[in-house]
Order: sequence, then structure tokens, then C-alpha cells
Amino acid sequence: MTQPPSQSTSALSQDELKNLVGQAALSYVAPGEIVGVGTGSTVNKFIDALASMKHLIKGAVSSSEASTLRLKALGIPVFDANEVRELSVYIDGADEIDGHGNMIKGGGAALTREKIVAALANQFICIADESKLVDTLGRYPLPVEIIPMAAQRITQQFAALGGRAQVRLKGDQPLVTDNGQILLDVSGLLITDPLAFETQVSQWPGVVTVGVFAFQRAQICLLGTAQGVKTLTF
Ligand code: 5RP
Repeated sequence: MTQPPSQSTSALSQDELKNLVGQAALSYVAPGEIVGVGTGSTVNKFIDALASMKHLIKGAVSSSEASTLRLKALGIPVFDANEVRELSVYIDGADEIDGHGNMIKGGGAALTREKIVAALANQFICIADESKLVDTLGRYPLPVEIIPMAAQRITQQFAALGGRAQVRLKGDQPLVTDNGQILLDVSGLLITDPLAFETQVSQWPGVVTVGVFAFQRAQICLLGTAQGVKTLTF
């Protein structure tokens, strides 16, 4: 369902749209609760906004070292995921989101912890600017966190599906995730059945996490558009 835009934003930059959705997400944070917090430039706007109500919440469960640092710097307590039975909301960005709330995530290399924290939450609220909304997932190279010794075999498995996998680099070395593993970015895929795709790739030996979020899809997307923040519900 799309709600009427709240204000005209025709002159706003992508950064300002991220700011708008980061602010809008505050209305999903209930006083007294622990909130699940994702990773990325859009979530950074949400974390900054969350600081304004830090005295009303218990704290956050974070999906990355980067978000943890930002939360703590703003005085927001960070809980270990194992200390929390469930969360009412998890708020995170996406690299792509389709019309059913399925997403590609992991552009910020945090997909494994993002999926873990999302699984603890009753509701996934995606915050994104409208460039992220797609008909079919796959234009954005799919991030996959893997065990390094499986890289060659997994690359071959993606090639059999028509995908071209490349190890993500930081400088001239493989990027190492918060979990001490590496990432493949896979281009050339058209993911028409996200749930089936996530199920299939998750079973390949050496795959830690595939960046398709269909089991942990979004229930709500706050989409920053030229017409304002649109609320998509799935
Ligand atoms: C990090 C992610 C991010 O949510 C995704 O990359 C979107 O980031 P941004 O808000 O910076 O566009 O999945 O692993």
C-alpha cells in the first residue's frame, strides 16, 4: 500500500532522501524497547536520528562493528544478540528491494550479521531511496559471504547459473568481513524466485550467507522519493 506523500522533495539530493527516511523510521521505535539496527549510509542517518530518543529506549542490537561504533559514540547502549530473545523491529537499508519486500543486501559487507539480527525481529523496516526499488532483483551485484577455501568452487557454481563472481577487494587484498571471511560479488544474475534462490545457494558448502533476503524480507519499506516518504507495505 502506498500512502500519500507527506511533503514535496523535488529538490532533495539522495543524501537528503536518506536523511528523510532515517528520520521517518523513528516512528517505528517504541519507547522502552531494544531496536535492531542495520548497516550503511542510510542507517547512519537513522542512528543519528535515534540519538534524539536515546533516553526513551533500552538500546540496540547492532549488525556490524561500524554501526556499533556509531551507536556507542552517540551514547546508545549496544546489546549482544545473544542477550535478546526477540526484537519488535529491525531497521536497515537495502541495495535493491522488489515489490514484495525481497531484498539484495550486503553492499556494506554486513549481510551475515544483518540476517541474524533481522531473524530476531518481528518486523523488518527497510529504509531506502527510490533508486533501490526494482521489478526483479539482480541488477546490483549479489554479495555472498563465503569461507575462502570454497571461492573457486562457488565461483563455478554461480557461473553455471549465468553469474560472474568476483572476490571483493579492499585495496589490492580481499576484503575481510567482521566475521573474518571474504565476499564474492556476483553480477549477471536475474533472481526471479528469491526464496528458491536463497534456499538453493544457502546450501552450497562454504557459503556463509547469501545476500538475498527473502526469508527475512521487509514487511514495510520507507521509500524516499521526489514526492516525499512513501510507505510500502508487503
Ligand atoms: C550493508 C547493507 C546496506 O543496507 C546496503 O548496502 C545499503 O546501504 P546504503 O544505505 O549505504 O545504500 O546491506 O551490508
